[in-house]
Amino acid sequence: MNINGKTELAGVIGYPIEHSKSPLIHNYWFEKYNINGVYVPFAVKPSDFDDVVKNLSKFGFKGVNVTVPHKIRAMELVDILSNEAKKIGAVNTIIVKNDGSLIGHNTDSFGFTQNIEQRCPNQISKGPAVLYGAGGAARAVCSALIDGNCPEIRLVNRTASNAGKLAEIMNCNKIKIVDWEYRSECIDDATLIVNSTSLGLDKSSDLPIELGKLNPKAVVVDIIYNDTKTKFLRRAAVRGNIVIDGLGMLLHQARPSFASWFGIDPEVTEELKELMFA
Ligand code: ATR
Repeated sequence: MNINGKTELAGVIGYPIEHSKSPLIHNYWFEKYNINGVYVPFAVKPSDFDDVVKNLSKFGFKGVNVTVPHKIRAMELVDILSNEAKKIGAVNTIIVKNDGSLIGHNTDSFGFTQNIEQRCPNQISKGPAVLYGAGGAARAVCSALIDGNCPEIRLVNRTASNAGKLAEIMNCNKIKIVDWEYRSECIDDATLIVNSTSLGLDKSSDLPIELGKLNPKAVVVDIIYNDTKTKFLRRAAVRGNIVIDGLGMLLHQARPSFASWFGIDPEVTEELKELMFA
C-alpha cells in the first residue's frame, strides 16, 4: 500500500468496530483492481455520529459503510434515500456525491440474493420459503424474498407480535405468519429455509427446529457469518441438503458499496473467502 495525496478514502463507522470484516474485504479489492485507495474502520460514539457524517465530504471520502448502532440514525442524515434503504428501514452504505450531498443505501438484500444465486440460481422463486426471525436482519431477507418473487414466505418468530410488525411493514400478501409452535412442521414442502435469528451467533446456541420433515431438495441458509458451520447448517448438511452460510452474504453485500464508490463491481472469489478465515 502506498498512501499519498491521491489515495481514495472509504471506511466503516460503528461502535464498537474492531470486529468488522469490511476493511479486509475492501482493501483486498483495492489491491486486486490496482486502485490507490484505503478503507479504514472508525469507532464513532452515537453522540459523535452526526458530526462525522456531516463532515465526510470535507475529508474527501467517497463513502462509508455504516454498522451497529448507527444504521437507523444514518437514514435521517443523508440527503437522498434509496428504495432499498427505505424498504429495509436502515442505511448500511453512504455515497458521497461530488457536490458533497449524501445518498443512503442498503445492500443487505442484494448480498442475501447474490449469495444464493451464486450457488443455486433461481432458488428463491422455486417454492415456499420459511424465514426464521423478525428482527433487522429478517427485514432485509424478507425484502429480498419478495423482490425475488418467492411464491410464499412463511414467517416464523418466537415473539408473534414482532412477526406481525414485520409483515405489516412489508405489506405483501405472500407473507404468512406461522406460530412458533409450528416451527418444525412448516418446513415440509419448503424449498428455501433461512435462519435470520441471532441463534448460532454464539457457537453453543442452535435454532430449535427439528429437521425430520425437511424436503431433501430444500436449500438451507444461515445468515450468521462469523461461523460458516453453525449447528443448524451442520444438521441440514448431514441430511444431504445444500447449505449456504452467511459469509457469502457479507462479501456480496460489500460489492454494491465498492461499485458505487469506485466504479468497479468487484468479484467475490474463493481467495477472498479464504482470506476471511486466515
Ligand atoms: P438482528 O438485527 O440481528 O436481526 P434483532 O433485531 O435483535 O437482531 O433480532 C433478533 C432475532 O432473533 C429476533 O427475531 C428474535 O426473536 P424475538 O423477536 O422473539 O426476540 C430472534 N431470537 C433471539 N434469541 C432467540 C431465542 N433464544 N429463541 C428464538 N428466537 C430468538
